[in-house]
Amino acid sequence: MRSRAGRARLSAVTFPAVTPITARLVVTGAHGQLGRALLALAPGSRGYGRAELDITDADAVRAVVNPGDVLVNCAAYTAVDRAESEEAAAFAVNATGPAVLARVCAEAGARLVTVSTDYVFPGTAAQPYEPTDPTGPSTVYGRSKLAGEQAVLELDPNARIVRTAWVYTGQGTDFVATMRRLEGERETVNVVADQLGSPTYAVDLAAGLLELAGRPGAPGSPAMPRILHATNAGQASWFELARAVFAGIGADPNRVLPCGTADFPRPAPRPAYSVLSGKSWAAAGLTPLRDWRAALNDALSAISD
Ligand SMILES: NC(=O)c1ccc[n+]([C@@H]2O[C@H](COP(=O)([O-])OP(=O)(O)OC[C@H]3O[C@@H](n4cnc5c(N)ncnc54)[C@H](OP(=O)(O)O)[C@@H]3O)[C@@H](O)[C@H]2O)c1
Repeated sequence: MRSRAGRARLSAVTFPAVTPITARLVVTGAHGQLGRALLALAPGSRGYGRAELDITDADAVRAVVNPGDVLVNCAAYTAVDRAESEEAAAFAVNATGPAVLARVCAEAGARLVTVSTDYVFPGTAAQPYEPTDPTGPSTVYGRSKLAGEQAVLELDPNARIVRTAWVYTGQGTDFVATMRRLEGERETVNVVADQLGSPTYAVDLAAGLLELAGRPGAPGSPAMPRILHATNAGQASWFELARAVFAGIGADPNRVLPCGTADFPRPAPRPAYSVLSGKSWAAAGLTPLRDWRAALNDALSAISD
């Protein structure tokens, strides 16, 4: 086993096409993994963590939103398992929060881009989900995020919703970070092989959101669909992702062993199939996010020992 006690950073990768935004950028949920990635790419923007701006507080949101701003909402209740027993808390942040943002942005003449999730789908498909496919969440988290989407669609015709999936930075407690840690602690690691998705580097997603935010006329342009999907390209199981992490840090990927969803019972059922199609993103003229393996390699090389 390798030992690592490295400090990690987000800044040493080559970013895909980041377009400078002309309007002013406001980022909510700024201390989360996506919020931090966005602020790292757009240092002049205004970022607010939960302590500085609670997105469910309309007066507080009004105080920071100005005409011409583009507000990218990265705030969310993301504890998928805990949400099963904290439904009210999940709905407050994931449904009421985006509704507040949509109402305030519409009133103020600001543009809203809010981030949503693959969990709005049932996760039973056999081909990548398009934004227009029927939803059908099977978790409280998914239902709360879908309620947020519906409120945004209803309250702000100029708002755009960007669904993503399997987001990581490789730091903290996300899946990639956990695999890096377990590689140093265990000889073998069992990882679920029967759930498929598109691993998405937060930095690539942040670059995509900036491109959307900076498009002339977007996200309010009529040509821009109201719901878009943005993930790194390609698909993998958690098992394949774990193997790629091991390989990427110079460890033997055969130390990752496959297991099934049934081996890891969780309070919230996990979707078997969570791949989101990038066709609508590309059709809107936005730069497709690169293949997940290339993104993972960049993420791992941005983490210094
Ligand atoms: N991570 C994934 O794999 C994934 C997959 C699909 C979609 N998404 C979506 O991507 C977006 C970003 O997720 P993420 O991974 O960056 O999540 P994250 O790391 O959990 O960050 C979410 C941030 O929102 C903050 N927050 C919670 N309640 C708030 C409130 N009422 N007002 C303001 N801020 C609040 C949280 O602060 P506290 O920590 O203090 O509560 C946290 O810093 C979310 O919309 C999420 O649903 C994520």
